[in-house]
Amino acid sequence: MTRKAILTIDGKSIELPILQGTCGPEALDMRGLYQETGLFSYDPGFTSTASCSSNITYIDGDAGILLYRGYPIEQIVENCNFLEAAFLLIYGDIPNYAQKQDFEKMINQHTMVHEQLRSFFHGFRRDAHPMAIMVGIVGALSAFYHDSLDIDDTSQREIATHRLIAKMPTIAAMAFNYSKGRPLPYPQNDLTYAQNFLKMMFSVPTEQYQINPIITKAIDRIFILHADHEQNASTSTVRLAGSSKANPFACIASGIAALWGPAHGGANEAVLAMLKTIGTKDKIPEFIEKAKNKNDPFRLMGFGHRVYKNYDPRARIMRQSCHEVLEQLGIHDPILEIAIELERIALEDPYFIEKKLYPNVDFYSGIIFSALGIPPSMFTVIFSVARTVGWVAQWNEMMADPAQKIGRPRQLYVGNPERKFQKP
Ligand code: ACO
Repeated sequence: MTRKAILTIDGKSIELPILQGTCGPEALDMRGLYQETGLFSYDPGFTSTASCSSNITYIDGDAGILLYRGYPIEQIVENCNFLEAAFLLIYGDIPNYAQKQDFEKMINQHTMVHEQLRSFFHGFRRDAHPMAIMVGIVGALSAFYHDSLDIDDTSQREIATHRLIAKMPTIAAMAFNYSKGRPLPYPQNDLTYAQNFLKMMFSVPTEQYQINPIITKAIDRIFILHADHEQNASTSTVRLAGSSKANPFACIASGIAALWGPAHGGANEAVLAMLKTIGTKDKIPEFIEKAKNKNDPFRLMGFGHRVYKNYDPRARIMRQSCHEVLEQLGIHDPILEIAIELERIALEDPYFIEKKLYPNVDFYSGIIFSALGIPPSMFTVIFSVARTVGWVAQWNEMMADPAQKIGRPRQLYVGNPERKFQKP
């Protein structure tokens, strides 16, 4: 039997059904609220609002648990490569051998971009931020793939899904090479997703590219950890754009724009900049004090999360991966020592304990990226390559949902009431 909450306003009572998911908090069904009471719910930042129902990813922020289609992230990282994780997120379960082969083949068919799209890159300044290029180029895909724009056709939705997953590494590597003044790369389809990305990023036509298995594994793991994270800001942006029936390429471009912000995907770039500014371990207490000072806008980047009020499970894997990569590559990075000390001090500080501020996934990813020779401006780009899988999985889920409606929040108006026009 459905549980109900009773809301009494000015003596009138209404019943609000309580919806149950498979895991996590129940949700008060507010859909009838305005019609029955004339009131809106007010929740800027959606701190208490479920915007949809979904069966893709589940986070228990208090316990520090992240599940992809029910499987703990630790088990996915241990047993899957990125394309297997992508298949799982999109189609709902782990692929068998034949499904895996077919999926890889399908993605490989779409890794190249239209030759004319390459000329778009030359319109950008060489010093353009690669995320600016990503927003522009991914949006521009809408102008090239007219045969996958009919969002009411499930097969076209699937082709758009494959195209986006396949082309993102190519576009990201092209953006990087453009900034370096190097030739724009082409994909090589006998490589894995991670190998192909690394080769496109770092190979030059004059030299044979050596694939490093340590670096490949680290990148593949980073891709998996960033692939989906339920209704975060960029995914919600993709869903909102998609709710108006915008085409998938435009929707993903909107997700990239939302991801760029330093409060979201841009945090890993900000973490590394912060660690470099701190510079030496003895400066850490000074920065901790700044972060705690209400009158100082400074925040400890890579700390805190809207949902995790415990250690982010991705940060735990990333921390371990960071140590492994630096050790295996024989890199001694003083920045890592600052990061570990900063983490130790913050985790013992009453301010961070009381507010449940733990390191998030971005805290360690920047250090690994640096060790792999990836510059800070590319950190969020790599995040966007991985998160494209989550965005398209969530977009597909929404498009197939019969309860889907255009997203149109209401507001609490606090401006002038109607007034007569008077010239000043
Ligand atoms: N350093 C210092 N204080 C912090 C931090 C931080 N990193 N994060 C939150 N706080 C404090 C806030 O000042 C606030 O204090 P108050 O209650 O006294 O006002 C309290 O903790 C709650 O913070 P909110 O901003 O209200 O929490 P919210 O859920 O809105 O924000 C966010 C979450 C944006 C991630 C925030 O913790 C933050 O800015 N962190 C730094 C940026 C970052 O690392 N972002 C990456 C997020 S993970 C991702 O996108 C992959």
